[in-house]
Amino acid sequence: MYVFKSEFVASSPNVKDCPNEFFPEFAFIGRSNVGKSSLINSICKKKKIAKVSGKPGKTKLINHFKINDNFYITDLPGYGYANISKKNKKNIDKLIIDYFLYRKQLKLIFLIIDIRHKPLEIDLNFMSWLINQEKKFSVIFSKSDKLKEGELSAKEYMLELKKKLNKKPKYFITSSKKKVGVDNILAHINRYIVS
Ligand code: GTP
Ligand code: MG
Repeated sequence: MYVFKSEFVASSPNVKDCPNEFFPEFAFIGRSNVGKSSLINSICKKKKIAKVSGKPGKTKLINHFKINDNFYITDLPGYGYANISKKNKKNIDKLIIDYFLYRKQLKLIFLIIDIRHKPLEIDLNFMSWLINQEKKFSVIFSKSDKLKEGELSAKEYMLELKKKLNKKPKYFITSSKKKVGVDNILAHINRYIVS
């Protein structure tokens, strides 16, 4: 799929305020700082359409971007950022959970994992919750430019997932820095739009 148009549509503090048009929607979620917003910039082919920061906790709202006047992608706050108050953490957790539970337009969730990380409890718990809620998700390994043996590391991660969650989702290896893997993600999205 070729991206000929990408635009920022809205930032919403909760699921009730999200745009109510019925475009198919694809969400990007994962721990803070794994590179969700950077990946969205790569997909949109715009350097700053989504806010990026070296400091975790940059994205705080549900951000909708419309692609090719045809579908939405959403950039969400990261989970698991330790350095915030309990109240803020609770608010973010609620925003994320409500979004996944109640957003009817949602077709598929992309769960972003930093390719250098082994399966972490927080990610496994989140995947387990998605499975219990019968939500479809694929895994995206980010920052592949940071690791030489990226392919091997991703395979090992997926084996662990199979062991721990009895699930082997589809996965993608990407680098926003090197612009790797974006085409495969768009091709995958396209399958959900046409079917
Ligand atoms: P929150 O919004 O805080 O949850 O973070 P996020 O997951 O949206 O991460 P973001 O895109 O803001 O990127 C976090 C940091 O990782 C930034 O310093 C980025 O420049 C860096 N980064 C993101 N993608 C890549 C990548 O593919 N390669 C490298 N080397 N760095 C990356
Ligand atoms: Mg972000």
